[in-house]
Amino acid sequence: RIYRETDADIAALGERTVGIIGYGNQGAAQARNLRDSGVPVLVGNRADEYFGPAAEAGFAPLPIAEVADRAQVVLLLIPDEVQPEVCAEQLAPGLRAGDTLVLASGYNWAFGLLEVPAGVDVVMVAPRMIGAAVRDRFVARQGYPCFVSVERDASGSAWPTALAIAAGIGAAVQGAIESSAREEAALDLFTEQAIWPAIMDLLSAAYAVQRDVGFSDEAILHEMYLSAEPAEVFARAAEHGLLGQLPLHSRTSQYGQLRGLAELGARDNPLREYFERVLHQDILSGAFAAEWSQPEAMASLERLRAAAQRDPLHHAEREVRGS
Ligand code: NAI
Repeated sequence: RIYRETDADIAALGERTVGIIGYGNQGAAQARNLRDSGVPVLVGNRADEYFGPAAEAGFAPLPIAEVADRAQVVLLLIPDEVQPEVCAEQLAPGLRAGDTLVLASGYNWAFGLLEVPAGVDVVMVAPRMIGAAVRDRFVARQGYPCFVSVERDASGSAWPTALAIAAGIGAAVQGAIESSAREEAALDLFTEQAIWPAIMDLLSAAYAVQRDVGFSDEAILHEMYLSAEPAEVFARAAEHGLLGQLPLHSRTSQYGQLRGLAELGARDNPLREYFERVLHQDILSGAFAAEWSQPEAMASLERLRAAAQRDPLHHAEREVRGS
């Protein structure tokens, strides 16, 4: 289901105080959007480099625990990896039955990493948009896609609250898509763990094949992505559809693309097995979330980063980009 602006009523927030925890990418955008929607907000931020910008924007930031105590609707807008600890230590003591915790990502809730006091509603309002654009598109009244869900409805009125927040941050203009923390987290992780690695791996294989016939690194990489042409194609695909944007290419290109697609589409995709394993065994089972929660996960990230750099494609890219 898609909830439209007519389904959402900011007035459902009533006299409740809305607290924004974190003034980063999403926090800064959502705090300003809510304020411009007529919702008074309190901003909670620790004393770091985000505190100053919040103060300059006129929010008079407070300690996180104080905002959790004073607000009845609390938006948790700090990085996913610090949320469990901050929630347990600074939010939980101030959250009371009848309050609402609003998540912008399903990850921690989906994998059982957040402990939220009983009687507190838990909802998700998750923009599919970077914070800067959440603000710009609000100002331009364009809206942006957003997933909404109710994860725990202790009060019986969690939906109107979730939709009021979606409307207040400008996410209901294009319609807010009903989802769940589990679905949002799994889709996000699948894109990260299956689709993007497949794209990077296919570019690397394509580079090797073209390099073997002696084409230059500069030409290959600009043709493949350094020109940013694929970004333009994806933008058109979002507007007209993957096949719908084909007429923007030459007829030679269209014939070549469709001929290749027919050949590849006619055989079993060797990636399907990998995709299924990632979705079931790594993501939905919670195995990836458990692995990423381990203390040694950061060191593994750095090892993987170093290993990826050794692929010839990335070596060529550094040379071409002069970095
Ligand atoms: P961010 O990285 O911009 O967060 C920075 C904020 O977190 C600052 O206010 C900082 O003071 C605070 N912070 C960092 N570590 C802290 C700690 N240990 N204790 C207390 N405060 C701490 O975060 P971002 O990217 O805005 O993400 C917030 C939420 O929004 C996450 O759940 C994320 O998954 C979700 N989200 C992010 C999107 C994006 O484009 N960045 C898109 C959609 C959802």
